[in-house]
Amino acid sequence: MVGKKGFIGLKVEFSYLGRQFIQLDEDNNKSLTDYIFDDLKEFIKTGDFTLGKKLEEFEEKFFDFIGVKHAIGVNSGTDALILSLKALGIGFGDEVITCAETFIATAGAIAATGAKPVFVDVNDEFTIDVDIIEPAITKKTKAIMPVWFTGNAPNMNKILEIAGKYNLPIVEDSCCGIDADINGKKAGSFGITGAFSFHPLKNLNIWSDGGMITTNSDEMNKKLRLLRNHGLASRDEVEIFGFNSRLDTFQAVIALRLLPDVKKITDKRIANAKRLDDGFNDLSDFIEIPKRNLNVRQVFHLYILRVKNRDQLLKYCNDKGIEAKVHYPIPLPYQKCCQHLGYKKGDFPKTERDCQSIITFPAHQHLTEDEIQYIIDTVKEFYRE
Ligand SMILES: Cc1ncc(COP(=O)(O)O)c(C=O)c1O
Repeated sequence: MVGKKGFIGLKVEFSYLGRQFIQLDEDNNKSLTDYIFDDLKEFIKTGDFTLGKKLEEFEEKFFDFIGVKHAIGVNSGTDALILSLKALGIGFGDEVITCAETFIATAGAIAATGAKPVFVDVNDEFTIDVDIIEPAITKKTKAIMPVWFTGNAPNMNKILEIAGKYNLPIVEDSCCGIDADINGKKAGSFGITGAFSFHPLKNLNIWSDGGMITTNSDEMNKKLRLLRNHGLASRDEVEIFGFNSRLDTFQAVIALRLLPDVKKITDKRIANAKRLDDGFNDLSDFIEIPKRNLNVRQVFHLYILRVKNRDQLLKYCNDKGIEAKVHYPIPLPYQKCCQHLGYKKGDFPKTERDCQSIITFPAHQHLTEDEIQYIIDTVKEFYRE
């Protein structure tokens, strides 16, 4: 029962997909699914299923939206990262610096090229601590991969300065950062490339996996177009070894329908996050709300707080019907897949602290005012008890 009073209170779901695609609009009594099916019916008539006009149209609208020269549709955010690194010639024997607190895909993409992920601890706002990037740079370092984790901005100005000093390219993991910006300059427009994910629970979401690479470099654009399509320069000529990582044109049709809503979706998430921040403001003995930087448009792909008694609060909220989660409970450098990298407990104090104290609450664009208030009341009730 979504949004209705039940025996446990309100059920506040983390996923909004049911609401996003099923709810009818007031003007035409149609759901978003109805509109998308109309678009797909037209598209299917064209038979233009591989790359083709609709993908081109989406790529053009996307690079316009981000404010860069090129956008290359690929089949996931992870591939957007892998192909970016491949296009830079990064592989075995190389090192890529990234943030210790992120989703596995960031480091997985580095490892997939054969390079070694080198982790740097986070600051208090869930982005890479720029003061400890330089000591991590070695002769083998070939790129820096900052992450717009949670939809918040890394300190890109400082990262650009460091990258300039050591002549290193920046590949932005902006998978969670669509429509985020620093002083109006958007995520995905700072580095040599930016990588975006259109996974169903991202702020611009499609009905499957999908991703996009943004770049201002004509050379990278050319290489990336080859890499995502078997290295084919034409139907019969193969210039380099590549992959099949085309963004499915069927999904591009869906994305074209959703792209115009991204700003509205982001605004709503920002407003919901503000409501939650305000609601938790008087709980400072128990809850640490990360600093909100005024020059950053933080898009709250995830709304994360540091709290006391996290595990008990998590259980309490879950029992009360609120789908709170933890992103993520185990520091990435200490995961089994990273064992060979030789990190040990104590290497990433802030990431460790976060893994024990962070909690993610739903802040998505379909939350009702009642649901937001219910989250706030439930958390207050927990700390009162
Ligand atoms: C920070 C980060 N990087 C990369 C990815 C990978 O995106 P995808 O799932 O589209 O491969 C994700 C996806 O959740 C992510 O959160």
